[in-house]
Amino acid sequence: MKGILLSGGAGTRLRPITHTGPKQLVPVANKPVLQYALEDFRDAGITEVGIILGHKGREEIQEYLGDGSEFGLEITYIVQGNPLGLAHAAGCAKEFVGDDDFVMYLGDNILHQGIEELVDSYREGDYDAGIALQEVANPRQFGVAAVDESGAVRRLVEKPEAPPSNLALIGVYVFSPAIFDAIEAIEPSWRGELEITDAIQRLLDEDRKIDSHVVEGWWKDTGKPEDILEANRLVLEEIDGAVEGEIEAGAEVSGRVQLDSGAVIQEGAVVRGPVAVAEGTVISDGTYLGPYSSIGPNTEISNAHIESSVIIGESEISTSGKIVDSLIGRNTTIAPADGLLPEGRRLVVGENSDLNL
Ligand code: TTP
Repeated sequence: MKGILLSGGAGTRLRPITHTGPKQLVPVANKPVLQYALEDFRDAGITEVGIILGHKGREEIQEYLGDGSEFGLEITYIVQGNPLGLAHAAGCAKEFVGDDDFVMYLGDNILHQGIEELVDSYREGDYDAGIALQEVANPRQFGVAAVDESGAVRRLVEKPEAPPSNLALIGVYVFSPAIFDAIEAIEPSWRGELEITDAIQRLLDEDRKIDSHVVEGWWKDTGKPEDILEANRLVLEEIDGAVEGEIEAGAEVSGRVQLDSGAVIQEGAVVRGPVAVAEGTVISDGTYLGPYSSIGPNTEISNAHIESSVIIGESEISTSGKIVDSLIGRNTTIAPADGLLPEGRRLVVGENSDLNL
């Protein structure tokens, strides 16, 4: 079995963060989102992985992942270019997949449970597809599956007015190569994309067997800023404390802290875990760093109050204003305005930003 990881797309809902980079490299607990999926592939014994690339951040993704050996994988890059839909992205992998079955994983999704059970369930029967489902409170906003008692899929509906169940399709699928003929046979949807649900429906119309697996642990699609913060919270909830950096005498640290090598919590700083602090970052005197925060590399935090936030890195934050529930892009400076006239907030804010002042 092979794997394909979808790392193209436009990422419009994550602007302005995605103006300068691909959303799949946005860090969650200081690890790029796509790495969670790659670790799931490896843990399921899938080592041949094709990475689908769009236009944005192609080089950055290749630079980060290299040939995959660092992650225990053998990576092949496949260029999709324009985001013409999930089924189009899958279709680009036809040559790479050959006669194998494959798992398709959306590069901005994180599954707490991993994919082993989904893959095992697919392997147990004579299936041409296997879909991962999760019970949701608001099925009208998702692709929804109707399944029978044995778990076999009967019908799929996209954002239904009258949902046949509360089981939503989430971002992982298993396919046999039969999916490629289905993809070639479908037409773009009203939004101009080749939809994977249409291709799966086509398999159903051909009376092919489709397995479903209800995923029990949490699942997060990190398409929007608030989803990144929520995923960060969920991952930090379970980290083990690991201090490779330095905690100076006189710093007040409690809870689980993941402090990478070269990071320092200085005397006079207060840190309450769970938090993650990346290499080269300094948390200095007068700072309160509160639970569910991830601070990326080479960042200086002084006299600040930060809680439940993701600071991507290479930044300098010295404002005394409280920063909560915030996602802050790379290379950002947030400094105090005290004493400067005229009094007020001084902002240099990029397109599509979202501020609550
Ligand atoms: P989406 O989040 O559905 O789409 P998007 O990335 O274009 O985001 P937005 O709606 O905010 O503009 O994509 C899910 C995943 O699949 C994501 O990792 C990007 C990837 N993808 C592709 O690789 N190719 C595609 O054609 C599409 C639509 C998505």
